[in-house]
Amino acid sequence: MDIMRLKKNMRRMKALFFTLRYPHLAKEGLKSILGTSYYEGMLKKSKIENKSLSQIVNLYNEIRLLNFDVRCGNVSHFELLTIASMIATQKPHVLLEIGTFDGNTTLQMALNAPDTAIVHTLDLPSEVVSLVQPILEVDVKLVRDKQKKQRKYQKTSCEKKINQHIGDSATYDFKAFCKQGLVDFAFIDGGHSYECVRSDTENVMNVLAPNAIVMWHDFTPDFHGVFTYLNEISSRYPLIHIAGTNLVYYKKQQ
Ligand SMILES: C[S@@+](CC[C@H](N)C(=O)[O-])C[C@H]1O[C@@H](n2cnc3c(N)ncnc32)[C@H](O)[C@@H]1O
Repeated sequence: MDIMRLKKNMRRMKALFFTLRYPHLAKEGLKSILGTSYYEGMLKKSKIENKSLSQIVNLYNEIRLLNFDVRCGNVSHFELLTIASMIATQKPHVLLEIGTFDGNTTLQMALNAPDTAIVHTLDLPSEVVSLVQPILEVDVKLVRDKQKKQRKYQKTSCEKKINQHIGDSATYDFKAFCKQGLVDFAFIDGGHSYECVRSDTENVMNVLAPNAIVMWHDFTPDFHGVFTYLNEISSRYPLIHIAGTNLVYYKKQQ
C-alpha cells in the first residue's frame, strides 16, 4: 500500500517538475487531453444512429470516378465512394449540391447519375463581401480559394449534365433547382455554421421529391454547428451516420 502511494507521489512530482520545466508543452498536453475527451463525450451524446454503408446501399452496383484526388476542402476518398454508390443505387434525376468548391463531388455525382440527369450545384462567388448568415473562418478560406475556379467537371463528358449556380444559399431562390422536377438527391456541404446548415437544410427539405435522399457532410464535433443541428433534427427525421465517414444520410418517406 505504502509503495503504491510512494509511486503515485513520484508520478505527481514528475508531472509537477515537467509542468514547471516545460510550461508550454504541459499546456498543449492538457489541451489535447481535454480536447479528446470533449470530442469523445460529444460523440457519445450523439442521438444519430450509426450504420455501415453496406446496410444502406447495394455495393454491387458499379460506380465511376474520374480525377478524384482530394485536397483540403474536399470530402475524403471513402466519402466520395459512398456518395457515388448512393447515386448509382438510387438513380436520381434531379441532383442538388450546396458547396461546389473545386467541383470534385459535383463531377463524381454527375458521373454516377443517369445520362438524362441534371446536377445543380451552388457556390458563393470568390469575392463575397457580406452574407446573411454567420460564416466560419474555415469557410472563408474555402470561399476565397483560388484553385476552385477551375472546376473538375469542366471539359469532361459530364459537363453538359451540370448547371453551376453562383450565389448565397441563404438567399438563393431554390425554385431554380426545380425546373426539371423536384430534387431526388441533395448534398449539403456549403457553410458550416449552425445558422447556415439550418437554413440550407430547411430550404432543401422544401424542394424534395418523394423518396429523395439528403446527405450532409462534416458531421463531427469539430464542426459544432453541423453536429448540434443534425442532432437536434434527428427527432424529426430518421437520420443515419454512415460509419467511417462524416456523412449523414436521410431518405424521405414518400
Ligand atoms: C467544403 S467546400 C465543398 C467541398 C465539395 N463538396 C467537395 O468535397 O468537392 C464548401 C464550399 O461551400 C461554399 N459556401 C460556403 N458558404 C456558402 C453559402 N452561404 N452559399 C453557397 N456556397 C457556400 C464555399 O465557397 C466552398 O466552396
